[in-house]
Parts: sequence; structure tokens; C-alpha cells
Amino acid sequence: MSTVTFEVNGSPVEAEKSARRLSDVLREDLGLVATKVGCDAGDCGACTVLLNGEPASACMTAVGQLRGRRVETLEGLDASGEVRSLQSAFLAHGAAQCGICTPGMLVAAAALLRVTATPTERQVMDALGGVLCRCTGYRKIIAAVMGAQEAEVTLPPPPVGKAVGHRVPRVDGERKLNGTDVFGADEAPAGSLTIKIVRSPHHRARFTLSDLDGYVAATLGVVAVLAAADIPGRNRFGAIPATADQPVFAEREVRFRGEAVAMVVGESRAMATLDLSAFPVTWDEMPPVLSPDEALDEGAPRIHDEREGNVLIRGNVRRGDLDEVFAAAEVEVEGAFETGFIEHAYIEPEAGFAERVGERVQVQVTTQSPHMDRVELEAILGVPEGSVRIVPTAVGGGFGSKLDLSVQPYLALAAWMLGRPVRITYTRPESMMSTTKRHPSRMHARIGATRDGRLTAMDFSGEFDTGAYASWGATVANRVPVHAGGPYVWDAYRARTVAVHTNNPPAGAFRGFGVPQSTIALECLLDELADAVGMDRLEFRHHNALVAGVPTVTGQVFTGGVGYRECLEALRPHWDRARAEAASAGEGSPRRGVGLAGMWYGCGNTALPNPSTVKVGLRRDGRIALYQGAVDMGQGANTVMTQICADAVGIDMSAIVTLGADTDTTPDAGKSSASRQTFISGNATYLAATALRERLLALAGASDEAHLELDHARLVVHDRDRATPVDLGSLRADGDDLVAVTSATYDPPTTALDDDGQGEPYAQFGYGAHMAELEVDLDLGTVRLRRITAAHDVGRAVNPTLIEGQIEGGVAQGIGMALMEEYLPGRNENLHDYLIPTIGDVPEVVSILVESGDPAGPYGAKGIGEHSLIPTAPAILNAIRDAVGAGVRRLPATPDRVLAAIEEGAR
Ligand code: FES
Ligand code: FES
Repeated sequence: MSTVTFEVNGSPVEAEKSARRLSDVLREDLGLVATKVGCDAGDCGACTVLLNGEPASACMTAVGQLRGRRVETLEGLDASGEVRSLQSAFLAHGAAQCGICTPGMLVAAAALLRVTATPTERQVMDALGGVLCRCTGYRKIIAAVMGAQEAEVTLPPPPVGKAVGHRVPRVDGERKLNGTDVFGADEAPAGSLTIKIVRSPHHRARFTLSDLDGYVAATLGVVAVLAAADIPGRNRFGAIPATADQPVFAEREVRFRGEAVAMVVGESRAMATLDLSAFPVTWDEMPPVLSPDEALDEGAPRIHDEREGNVLIRGNVRRGDLDEVFAAAEVEVEGAFETGFIEHAYIEPEAGFAERVGERVQVQVTTQSPHMDRVELEAILGVPEGSVRIVPTAVGGGFGSKLDLSVQPYLALAAWMLGRPVRITYTRPESMMSTTKRHPSRMHARIGATRDGRLTAMDFSGEFDTGAYASWGATVANRVPVHAGGPYVWDAYRARTVAVHTNNPPAGAFRGFGVPQSTIALECLLDELADAVGMDRLEFRHHNALVAGVPTVTGQVFTGGVGYRECLEALRPHWDRARAEAASAGEGSPRRGVGLAGMWYGCGNTALPNPSTVKVGLRRDGRIALYQGAVDMGQGANTVMTQICADAVGIDMSAIVTLGADTDTTPDAGKSSASRQTFISGNATYLAATALRERLLALAGASDEAHLELDHARLVVHDRDRATPVDLGSLRADGDDLVAVTSATYDPPTTALDDDGQGEPYAQFGYGAHMAELEVDLDLGTVRLRRITAAHDVGRAVNPTLIEGQIEGGVAQGIGMALMEEYLPGRNENLHDYLIPTIGDVPEVVSILVESGDPAGPYGAKGIGEHSLIPTAPAILNAIRDAVGAGVRRLPATPDRVLAAIEEGAR
């Protein structure tokens, strides 16, 4: 065996001279898992290390090339202290969200700072240009790198009682910055077997598996093959029990390209080079149905026997007499709009491990919905409730797709059946072809108004391609009709949706559940209507904005917390400035454009129960334990809940130990979706923490005004001029060492919708408006963004830094949706061909936080996670139309489509 010797973080390493990837050796042999793997193809930069001081992709570096070379990883840079100021700047600026890209960013930034102590923005963008981030929108990363040479940034902690509203650094930030946060692929028991999934190369096919035993016997390192016949429980799962329809393994027929038919489990080294082309499966390809048009055709094959016409579900909201109001309308506009599949493109592919522990299975996995996973896995395994434990890892981006099962059933099944620990990490193409996407949509809307600019009627219809399986299709079909009319007042309104099955990948939850799509139709037409009645586009929206006390399209009336007008007012000076600048820039190329779009978004499930439970206790060691099961996938739930808990108990934040999700230890806080955690779990935290405060005050017989002080194992209650010490060691504690414990459940007050979609679907809405400033190259059709200004009514900004991070990240995803992203099954299943915004694609983002004080929110707070993406794409499309005189109605607005709009505008 020939070997090579090289240096890793100052220590010599000898390895077999081979084509093995350096990333693999670092992670698997040396345990240096701060080097992340997002693509294994040189596209994402998550694996960036320094090779002889220069940034390089460890996944594209063969170990055989390393003789005598010097490798530095984040672990080394952290241990030497070289990146300390960078790390503290990242923490202070909120530059790490999920943290999966952070090691790559820090390593690339360290190389830059070695040669340029005070880099310019352009230098930072150039240096970090090869590292993708899907969460942050890059702006805070740029600010952190530029600010890293300032004296180490430390933010003062909030005073007691003032944590809410403070720019508290994320409580889990340190481990994201030193590379010790554990993501799905970072850990597995020694000796774990590895799983590989056999997937369909066809959109639709029948298949036969043959001689699996012979295959196992003949294939070196393979321990077992498991398929549908091996599932002891139910071969079916789905996010919504009523529409659950997806098999763990297909039986006889596959319905989309990438669908699993079997898994091969074997020794890790053998599995790393296993060629699945010898797997004994024969395919009988069938003509696929690849669009709703084909699927709705009378002669179309049925994708699911029980779903007539390939319709999963229809949604509907109607209010007022549409015909009558349209007949009286003095001005009308209408238009058709189309969007395609959009891939979540989180940098962390799906990954985890599982092991059988007696009659239970423990699954450590990247997920947004641990308790839902547990229930589904128990059904698949056919085991009693409580037999599965889900331990969520850090989540390297989710955005909705990690609400659905992906690797979990394979892990649980293999561990259960084989009695050995097993692990799996999806490859990037596998992740892209097999997991959910944003629903492609085809929408039509017609809008009427009076000549003096009052909106009167809207008629919306939308077809959503929900792919082969239901996933969250019903949620999209039901949420869109409530939202398609936006935060405006209508005399008459109708919105109809249909979710249609095709042989495309399942479309599911993606930041906004269909609302980003419908908002494009509405907001683009509003610009046309404003022009038709001769009103300023911002004033037109302001004139028609929903306000408190006025019924929404479902007849719901909010008494407060309706801050849309305030968002528009906050944008007004920016709008006036930008319009004036664009006007004075002239008519040549590139031509300036300014666009605006508004949004609203209901936080939580649509008209369904949506409870969250949180537990809080005082430990004997004088720490407050916060058991909060809201998965933090980078959005900041751990930090927000800790802030709320601190203020509700009335204690310093540093006294709180925040324990994240684990189905054995934290109560069910529901899934991290629908922008619900700050609102719903935040309320549960507030209620539990308030109850704990009452219990602690009662221990000392103190009044509501008393101050609490925790001094190691002593609680001191200061009430007016009396200080009562309570020796915690003398109190009886439970198994978790808690001497006082409370838990609380919050379920937002909503009502079911009737046949016309009337009712109270959400207890709160968030509102917002974005303004895009851009330039269009009239010859090339390219678009250069100059600035996005985003105003959001967040109720109360629990943590302004985290909210800005959500806004900037949402804006970046909105830019991708508007200008570059479309997933084409079978054609761009990698991050080379599927483009997401890089650091150079996101312009300055100005965030404006409007605090309307929502009556239902904890301390008045609202959700923001999805809201921030919704208005970006229509604002950009409106700015393109502003520049060239005609709109793009098929997304993304690629240069060819923009050129077509330029041509149309010139006619
Ligand atoms: S993992 Fe190496 S570039 Fe993506
Ligand atoms: S923080 Fe960059 S990918 Fe999540």
C-alpha cells in the first residue's frame, strides 16, 4: 500500500494514496466534521479548507494529491485563536443562522484576512463567492467579515426583564461558529452500517425485484436488502394524515423519478463504492403525466386510484356577489401567471443515524418536526406509541422540506430489522430528486376597481402541481384562497385552487405554502391597475389597505395588529427617493426600475388545531431549565424562547439552560413551519414561564412585584424591603432535578372554515411590503439589483437581529425565485445546474421593523419566517415592468423572458 503524508492543522497525517476525497478523510478518519459536505461536487463551498494557505474544496481534492501539503480546517483555526474576532463578529452580526455554511465561510474569510486586514465589500464578496448560504442572504456575513478587525465585538447582555426586544446573540451561536454543532451527517455509532437507496430512473414505471437474497450473497459487504415486503407496519406516510399516500418503498409501480424501491444496507467502506447498476430490478417504463394539463385531461391515467381526475383537493374562499360587483367595476385588469418547481437547496442534505435500543428505535436526524416523525415511524414499524425516539440534530436549513419524512423511515426500518446501528446521508442529486419542492403554479386573476382607485372585486384561480404524492398539497390548496387577495379590502372576492397529481416529484411545504406564487399574480396586477386609474402605486395600495375592524376575505375581523398601512408608510420616503433617482437616471441602457409589492401571511395552521406545549422548571443547582421542543433550523427559536422565558420568569437570561427538541424529553411544540414558533410556542413559553414565576413567588409568599435572584443553589425573592432566601437543596426534586416545574399549552383561537371559506383561519397575520430597485440591460435582458427595502410588521421585535436575518434570507430566496431558480426533474439535480443566489447576487437589504403589537402574540410578537420571502419576487417583477414597460409573467425572469418583455414594452 502506497501512502502520502501531509499536515492537518499542524499535525502529520499519513493516508493511503488514493483518489479518496479529502473531505471524507477529514470527517470519517480524523473526526474533523467542521468541514461540511453539501454537494461533493465543488459547487457549494461547505467543505472549504485551506491548502497551503489557499481556500480549496476538500470534496474535490484527492488525498493522493496531498503529499507534503498543509491542510487547515476550522478546528485548527479555532484552536489557534486566529478566527476569534471573526467568530465574535459573526455572532454579534447574526451572520450564522443554521450554521452549515459557517465553517466554509469562516475558513474562506480567514484566508482573506491574512492578506487584507480591512477588506472592502467587493473583496469580501470575491473571497467568499464560492461558498453558498441559503439562510442569511449574505449581507450579515459581509458585514461581519468587514467588521472582524474591529476590537472584539461583545454585546452587552440585556438587563433583567428586558431580554425581549434586545439584540441578543443566538444562544446556540458559539457551537455553530467553532464547528462543534452536530448536524445530521456528523455523528454515528462506531461500526454503523450504511444505507443506499435504489431509486427509479423513470418518472413512471412498473418494476420487478428479483433474487434479492442472491444479490446480498454475491455482493461484497452487503448485509441486507429491504423493500416494501419487509415493512412490518404501514407502507405509507404523509404530512397530513387524511391524505397520507406516499409509500416508504414503491410497490409494483413508481410514480416519480427518484422514488425508492429498495434499500441496500452494508459495511460502510463497501457501500462507498457500491455500484447500484447491478441491483436486480427490471423497469417497465410507462408514459408519464408531467403537467396538470395532461393530468386533468379526461383520458389521463389515474396516478392514485382513489383520486378521480388526478385531483388531490380543491380550495375555495368566496365572499360577496362577484358578478354584481364586477358588473359595476369601472376599471378592470386580468392576467395569467406561471411559476415552476423550486428546490429548497438547503446546504445540508438529509442525513442521520438510527440504532435499536431494546424494543425501541432511536433516530438522530435532521428534521423540522420530531413528534410528527415519531408518530409516522411508529406506524411504519407497526410498534406501540413511544417505541421511537427522535433526537433532532442541528438542521442545516429546512425551509419546509424537512417537515416531510426523507431518510427517517429507512434508518428506523434498517435499525429495527437488523439490530445494528445504521446511517445514511443523501447525495445532493438524491436529495434534489427525491424530496419535496415548491409547487409549480398556473394562475389567473381578474381584478376590478372604481375609477377613483378603490378595489372592488377579485376573482382568482390557481392550479398547483402537487406531484406524485400529497405531502402538503392540501395545505397549499387551502391557504392560497385565504391569501390570494392580499391585505386589501374587497367588496366581492372569489379564489379557487386545485392541487393536481402528476408524475413529478412531490411538491410540499416551502416557505409560504403557495402564497409567494399567488402574491405574484395579485401584486403584479395591482401595479397595472394603479397605472390604469392614474394613481401612485404605493398610494393605491395604501388607499385599499386592510385595517383593524374591517373584515378580511374570510369575514374575520381583527381588533388590532394590522400593520400593513404602517409598512407602506415606512416605505414611502424610500419610494419617493428611489422613484426620483430612477427618473433622473434617464432612458438609456441599463434602465432603472422601481417596484413595490405587499403581503400578508397567517401564522400557524389554516383553521386547524395547532397546539404547542413548553415546560419550564427550576433546577436544584439554581438554573432555569427551558424544555422547548421547537426545532431551531437557524431561524432562532432557541434564542427567542429563551428571551421570552427570561422576561416572563423575571430572571437574567444567563440563568436559563435551553434544552432543544428531543421527543423523549421535550413536550410536543409542534412542527417548525407556518411561521408559528415565535407566536405559538412563544405563547406556550410565556404561559409556562409565568406559571413558574408564580410558583416561585409562592415559595416565599411574595407579591407579583417581587424580584427573583438565583444564586447557585439559592433562590432569593426580593419583595419590597424583604429578601427571602429559599434553599433549593432542601426542596424535593423530580427525576430531572427540578424543584418546581410548570408546563403550558397554547393553541391559537381559530375556527373551521365553512363551504365558502368563511371563518377565522388564523389568530394573527403578519404584514409587509418590499421595494426593489434595479437596472435592466436593454440589450442583454439581464437584471442587476441595486437595493431591496423591506418593511415588516412583526408585532414586537423579540430579537431585531434575528428578524433582520430572516428578512435578508427571505429576500435572497425571493431573488432566486424571481430571477434564476427553476427545478427541472431529471435535468438540473445538482447545485451546478440549479442556481441559487450567491453572495454577488444579493444587493443591499434595508430592513424596517414595524411593531404593531399583536394582541394574540407573546409580548405582541408575530412570526416572520415565511413573510419575508413573499413580496420580493413580485416587487422585482414590478420593477422590471417599471423599467421596460411590460411585465414578465412566467418565472423566473431569465434574460430571454426579460428581452421579450422589453420588446413588448417597446411596441
Ligand atoms: S461539498 Fe465540496 S463544494 Fe460542496
Ligand atoms: S447559515 Fe448559511 S446555509 Fe444556513
